[in-house]
Amino acid sequence: MSHELQKPILRWGIIGTGLISSWFVSDMVVPRADATAKHIIQAIGSSSEEKGRAFAQKFGGDATPSIYGSYDAVYADPEVDIVYIGIPHAFHKDACLKAISHRKHVLCEKPFTLNEQEAQEVFDAAKKKGVFVMEAMWTRFMPLTEQLLRLVHQEKRIGDVHRVFCDFGMLMDLDSLPATSRLKDPALGAGTLLDIGVYSLTWGLLGLDEGIASAALTPQVFSAQSISEGIDVTTSIVLHYPQNGRQGILTSSMKAKSDPVFARIEGSKGTVFIEGIAPSLPRRFTVVFNDAAAERQIYDAPPKVGKGFFYEADAVANDIVAGRVENATMPWDETLRVLALMDGIRARGVGQASK
Ligand SMILES: NC(=O)c1ccc[n+]([C@@H]2O[C@H](COP(=O)([O-])OP(=O)(O)OC[C@H]3O[C@@H](n4cnc5c(N)ncnc54)[C@H](OP(=O)(O)O)[C@@H]3O)[C@@H](O)[C@H]2O)c1
Repeated sequence: MSHELQKPILRWGIIGTGLISSWFVSDMVVPRADATAKHIIQAIGSSSEEKGRAFAQKFGGDATPSIYGSYDAVYADPEVDIVYIGIPHAFHKDACLKAISHRKHVLCEKPFTLNEQEAQEVFDAAKKKGVFVMEAMWTRFMPLTEQLLRLVHQEKRIGDVHRVFCDFGMLMDLDSLPATSRLKDPALGAGTLLDIGVYSLTWGLLGLDEGIASAALTPQVFSAQSISEGIDVTTSIVLHYPQNGRQGILTSSMKAKSDPVFARIEGSKGTVFIEGIAPSLPRRFTVVFNDAAAERQIYDAPPKVGKGFFYEADAVANDIVAGRVENATMPWDETLRVLALMDGIRARGVGQASK
C-alpha cells in the first residue's frame, strides 16, 4: 500500500477467475475521473495457470499481474496488499483465513460466508492479525444508493418509513446446469437466499434501518422457502420491527424474473421506486408523493463507466490507508447480522417446490 499524488494505491491479488472476478477486475482497470484510489492487479490465482493467463489478457487491460496456478501462491506473494475472493461461497471462509494468516487484507464476495459462525471466525482472525476485512456488498457503496438513503433517512423526503418491498428474481433452469454448478450444488452453498436474496434482504435493511442498526434493533423474521433438489428455489421473508411497526417484504426466486422496478420504500408522505437491471445494480429511483399535486422526482445513477465495483474498492483503499480494519458502510457487525438473519431463514426452511 502506498500513495501516488495523495491517492492510495492498492495492489490486488485475485482469487478465482469466474464471472464476478471478471467484472471486478475489468472495473479496477477502467479509467475514471472521479477515482479516489489507484488499483493495481498484482496477481491472479486460478485452478490453472493457463486459465489465469487467459483471464488476465481478456479482463486485465494493461496490467501485467503475476499468474499463479494456485490460490496459495497469491496469499504468499509479498507484492500483494489485498486479496479479492471471487470463488463459490462454500470456500470463502477458508480463503479468507488463509489470506489473513499471510497478513493480507481481504475483500470477500457476498455472501461473506455460509453462516454467521464462519464469519465470526474470519473476523476473529482478522482482529488478531490487525488486517482489514470486508464483505463485498458493492450495492451499498454506489453513489445512487447513498443519495437515496440520505433522502429517505436524513431528509425524510417520504416522511416516516412504513414498508419496504424488494424482489430479486432470476429465471434459472436447474435441469440445464451441471450437478457441479455453484448454483445447483448444495455443498457449494447453492440456493436463491444466499445468492440473490441477500440483496433483497439488504434493501430491506437499508430502507427500514436509519443507518447501520445495532444488533438490538434486529427485526423479527417470518419466512418460507420452497426447496427443490436440496436448495431453495424461492424464498419469501417478512421482517417486522416491533419498535416502530415497520415491515419488509423481501423475496428471491429462480422461478420468476423480477420487474425492473425491483423495490419500493413506502413512507407517510410518499413512495420511492427503485429500478435497475437487478437489485444489485440500481440505476434510477423515483420519488412519488401522496399529494397528487406534488411533482415526482427522478434521480439517475452517474453515467455508466464499468459496472460500479470501484466504489467499494476505493472505499477499501481509503480505509486501509487510514489504518482502519473495517468499513463504516459494511462493518463486521452488519455482515454478522445479515448472516444471522439468513441462518434463521434457512433453519426455518422448508417446503417442497412444485416442478
Ligand atoms: N457481487 C455480485 O454482484 C456477485 C455476482 C455474481 C457472483 N457473486 C459471488 O461471487 C462468488 C463467485 O460467483 P461467480 O458467479 O463468479 O462463480 P463462477 O463464475 O462459477 O466462478 C467461480 C470461480 O471460482 C473458482 N472455483 C474454485 N472452486 C470451485 C468449484 N468447486 N466450483 C466452481 N468454481 C470454483 C473457479 O476459478 P478458477 O478455476 O480460476 O480457480 C471459478 O471460475 C459467489 O460467492 C457469488 O455469490 C457476486
